[in-house]
Parts: sequence; structure tokens; C-alpha cells
Amino acid sequence: MQAQPKLIDAFGRTVNYLRLSVTDRCDFRCIYCMSEEMTFMPRAQILTLEEIYQIAKAFSELGVTKLRVTGGEPLIRRNILELMNKLGGLQGVDELLMTTNGSHLDQMAQGLQQAHVKRLNISLDTLNPERFKRLTRTGDLQQVLRGIMAAKEQGFERIKLNAVILKNRNHDEVVDLVRYAVEHGFDISFIEEMPLGQVSEHSRAEAYYPSYQIREDLERHFSLSSVSDKTGGPSNYFKVDGSVSRVGFISPHSENFCSQCNRVRLTAEGRLLLCLGNEHSVDLKKIVRSHPGDRELLKQAIVEAMKIKPEKHEFNLQEKPVIFRHMSVTGG
Ligand code: 5AD
Ligand code: SF4
Repeated sequence: MQAQPKLIDAFGRTVNYLRLSVTDRCDFRCIYCMSEEMTFMPRAQILTLEEIYQIAKAFSELGVTKLRVTGGEPLIRRNILELMNKLGGLQGVDELLMTTNGSHLDQMAQGLQQAHVKRLNISLDTLNPERFKRLTRTGDLQQVLRGIMAAKEQGFERIKLNAVILKNRNHDEVVDLVRYAVEHGFDISFIEEMPLGQVSEHSRAEAYYPSYQIREDLERHFSLSSVSDKTGGPSNYFKVDGSVSRVGFISPHSENFCSQCNRVRLTAEGRLLLCLGNEHSVDLKKIVRSHPGDRELLKQAIVEAMKIKPEKHEFNLQEKPVIFRHMSVTGG
């Protein structure tokens, strides 16, 4: 039997995790993610669902076992459940995951469950309706909470909440957010804001609220014990004692996790991004459109792309952003 092929980069890291952004659009306009007026990509430039599937299939044949579908907001892409069903059926893929803002989960949680989506990450930065409106500009907290409950009722394992914490916006809510997570048996990750794209609403240096500070705030109310299981991800996990919940800290500024990076990203327009914090990329759309159905060529391009995966990222809060894409283009 042939050994399972692997994607290995120039620094010896194995890439087994692909994040797929299926749209750059979103029904929210979170202040750390978008500006109020956004110009989205023309639809013709966005990969079709079939093209996304072909690329995901090529990755699965190259040893990728974990797929996360993101956006923008993935659930507003038309026929997304059809794609999820097909991705869920790919051989070798044992974890199909989604990151969503939750606004459409109340109607779609069941469909995602049926498509064999294994876990959901749901963004939730505040439990206060007015603040929610201020942070997302267009979102409705009750709608999202209904979505989260629908996901819970579907029995998804280990639902994870993602909270981006900004100083003087929601940093005083970290304890309440953990209480909510504990009450429902969810995990929760606190995310430091990353300088991706220009945002108009606030200064990123001023809004910076470091992970160690959040941890100190939490430890006045909860006892946290370190969890060793490292998933290759940027999160540091702690168990909330006396509960099933875990708290994670994603801190691109205060800690460097690049040496364990196992992931690459496909943008909605079909660019394979080798690192969230760098511009190194390969245009896979060009290949799938010029040579439709030629999976060997596509796989070759993916294998080649690994050679330019950068060793690490440099984010700097003081200077102008070096990365001009918004998170909605890249997908978390
Ligand atoms: N910094 C950190 N997190 C961000 N997200 C979006 N933009 C940023 C940013 N600039 C988060 C969302 C969501 C996840 C997909 O990425 O809140 O939880
Ligand atoms: Fe939409 Fe997520 Fe960006 Fe908010 S952070 S605007 S929910 S893509």
C-alpha cells in the first residue's frame, strides 16, 4: 500500500488543516473586522461551489484531514448546505468544522448536523443587546442566541464561542461570557484583535486588551487548570474547574505559535494563503479555471505552494497595517 501523501513545508511543518472561506460577504459589520461601507468582490471572481469542492478534494488527497468552512459569513452563501454535504463525504476528511456568526443557525443548525459537520465555532463578543448592536453594527443578539440554542439542541459536540475582546468595549464582560459558556457546556476562546485591514472605528493600539489580563480577570472568579492537548492551533486552553468547559486564549501579539502551524487558507476568490500574517499566496482559481478537472495539476500546485509558506508572521500594533485584507476575505 502506498503511504498517505503529506504536505510538508520548508520548515518541516505538516499541513493537514485547510480553512475555506466561501464568501467575503457578511450580514454583520463587526467594528474590528469591517468598515461600515464595504465593497465586496464581484460574484464572478468568487469560486463556485464546485470549484471549492474540487480544491478541497485535492487537499484531502494530499493528506488534509481537517476542513473548516468560514467566511465572511458562510451560512449566507447560497446552497452552502449542498457544499457541506459534499465536503462531509470526502474520503480522509475526519473533521468538518464551521465558523459562523450564528445569525442563520436557528434555521440551519439541523442541516449542518445532517451534513456531518462535527463542530461549530460561533462568534459572541457580548451578552448585552445594545453593545452587540454597537460591535456588529447590524447584528441582533437575540437572533444569535436563538441560533446558539438551536445548535445546542442539535447535539453538536464541544460548541465553541469566539469572543474578540477590546479594551473599553467589552473587556468587562469576560466573566459573564465564561458563565454563559459554563451554563451551557460550551468552550470559549478569547481573541486579541489582529491588525487585518483598515478599520475606521477605533485605534487598534488603544483597544488592545491582552490575553494575560483576561486570564487574571477570570482567575478572580474561576479556577483554571492548564490543558495539555495542543491541537497545533494558536489557542492556549484551560479547564474551568467544576465544569466541562474550556477557556482558550488566542494571542497573536503576546505569544508566537507559528512553529506549530499546521494550516493554510483558501480565500473566497481562490487564493491559497500560506499564512494569515503574510501576503504569500498562490492563485488556485487560475488553475481550476484554465484546466478544469485536472486534479493532478492542481495537486502539484498545492505541493509547490508549501515551499513558500513563511516561517512566521509579524503583527505590529503601532504602525499602519501591513496586511490590507480584512478577516472576512481570509476567514478567521
Ligand atoms: N482580529 C481578531 N479576530 C477577528 N475576527 C474577525 N476580525 C478579526 C480581527 N481583526 C474574528 C471574528 C470571528 C472569527 C472568525 O474571527 O470575531 O470570531
Ligand atoms: Fe461578519 Fe465575522 Fe467579520 Fe463580524 S467578524 S463582520 S460576523 S465576518
